[in-house]
Amino acid sequence: ELLGNQLFKADLPELPELDNLFNPEGVIAEAQNLAAEAFGAEQTWFLVNGSTAGIIAAILAICGTGDKILVPRNVHQSVISGLILSGAIAIFLQPEYNINWDLAYSITPEIVAQTLQQHPDAKAVLMVYPTYQGICGNITEIAKITHQYHIPLIVDEAHGAHFNFHPDLPVSALKAG
Ligand SMILES: Cc1ncc(COP(=O)(O)O)c(C=O)c1O
Repeated sequence: ELLGNQLFKADLPELPELDNLFNPEGVIAEAQNLAAEAFGAEQTWFLVNGSTAGIIAAILAICGTGDKILVPRNVHQSVISGLILSGAIAIFLQPEYNINWDLAYSITPEIVAQTLQQHPDAKAVLMVYPTYQGICGNITEIAKITHQYHIPLIVDEAHGAHFNFHPDLPVSALKAG
């Protein structure tokens, strides 16, 4: 009585017509393809449990126990969870820091280049773009440097999902390569 009939009409269980997130073949597959097109991706996978699940999946897909991964000091805790679950070794990068605002900015191409020189066996670089406060580092240059080592740049773009949808916004991670 409290919730009314509408609630139960919106509670849609795993009916065949609603597809299956773990093996999408119908409407979810179609929606994923449309999303990939919209974001300029080769492929898109929907997930539950937020950006956290995507970040953990990306780290687990690339890193196993003892593998090195470059990560900024100012990452979201989901990255730390990914490190713990994969057993990867973090090579921490100091982001630029604005002492007047007491604000950590982005990692720089210089720090990435320097650290990859010291750790050429690293399996990936991870970057937060934009940061929680909206700071966008030089992602195009960082992607270029990272790919010189034939390793992927994982981008935590949790706050930048809108970047591909207006030319006045910063370049999206996918567009930046
Ligand atoms: C930069 C960044 N990455 C990842 C996350 C995790 O996102 P979610 O809460 O959707 O799992 C957050 C959440 O605030 C975030 O700020």
